[in-house]
Amino acid sequence: MRTVYLNGDYVPENEANVSIFDRGFLFADGVYEVTTVVDGKLIGFDGHIERLQRSLNELKINYKVNREELLTVHRELVARNNIDQGMIYLQMTRGNPGDRDFAFPPEDTPLTVVLFTQEKQIIGTSIETKGLKVVSVDDLRWGRRDIKTVQLLFPSLAKMEAKEKGADDAWLMQDGYVTEGTSNNAYIVKDGKIITRDLSNDILHGITRKSVLACAKLLQMEVEERPFTIEEAYAADEAFATSASGFTNPIVEIDGNKVGTGKPGPVGDRLRALYIAENMKAAI
Ligand code: PDD
Repeated sequence: MRTVYLNGDYVPENEANVSIFDRGFLFADGVYEVTTVVDGKLIGFDGHIERLQRSLNELKINYKVNREELLTVHRELVARNNIDQGMIYLQMTRGNPGDRDFAFPPEDTPLTVVLFTQEKQIIGTSIETKGLKVVSVDDLRWGRRDIKTVQLLFPSLAKMEAKEKGADDAWLMQDGYVTEGTSNNAYIVKDGKIITRDLSNDILHGITRKSVLACAKLLQMEVEERPFTIEEAYAADEAFATSASGFTNPIVEIDGNKVGTGKPGPVGDRLRALYIAENMKAAI
């Protein structure tokens, strides 16, 4: 049985209880982060902590994140659950006001803080060689997708729509342009140029995205940050998606159209290799 963290305590997962009045449960009033673990070490930890603070600030949750404290909890959970490869999920909600009310509870209401581990193979999966299939789905999420909130119902519905159509994931569409995947940022490659949507409130500012674009720079690859249409994606030479737990995943089919050769492409492969090398060096 896993040991999880709840509000200062390490407890067996079946003893971790949260109130039915918790704002996270009643209003999806909370934020989260997912940090990847490889060889028992954390990838991109500081990026996740910075984004966590930003998400809290944007929701007007008055809380100062303590990096050292959270680093200790992450490491402790990795050790106690003996995680070699996988993820640490962290969630903070506006806490338990003791009743249901649209107005925020008093500012001194303690947040609910939950962290748990998930074991998952990160390096050397079959996705690296086979790639993923996606279908396009209208993006019906709210207008602040830059905040990493726990209201993930629409991405979950879109993922299921994709699975029903025989695909692995959905690429979400707004006004004919791709925003991102259900839980990843989206990229195409055309004539050697990497194209990915620019940062705004329309997409999550991926920690992996930032690192992968830095890798592209190191490799002297050309990057264009702008929205791209689904038709451009059909006609691309390559496509891929990035996320903490997937690194860079090749996309080999979009709406039934083969992307390029229909196999993972060289740009994505090179980026993945450099991303892993750089981030393993910096892992803590
Ligand atoms: N998802 N876009 C969305 C909508 C996401 O949910 C995620 C992350 C990303 C990629 O961000 P990052 O590179 O920082 O992981 C982009 C996480 C992994 C999840 O929900 O499990």
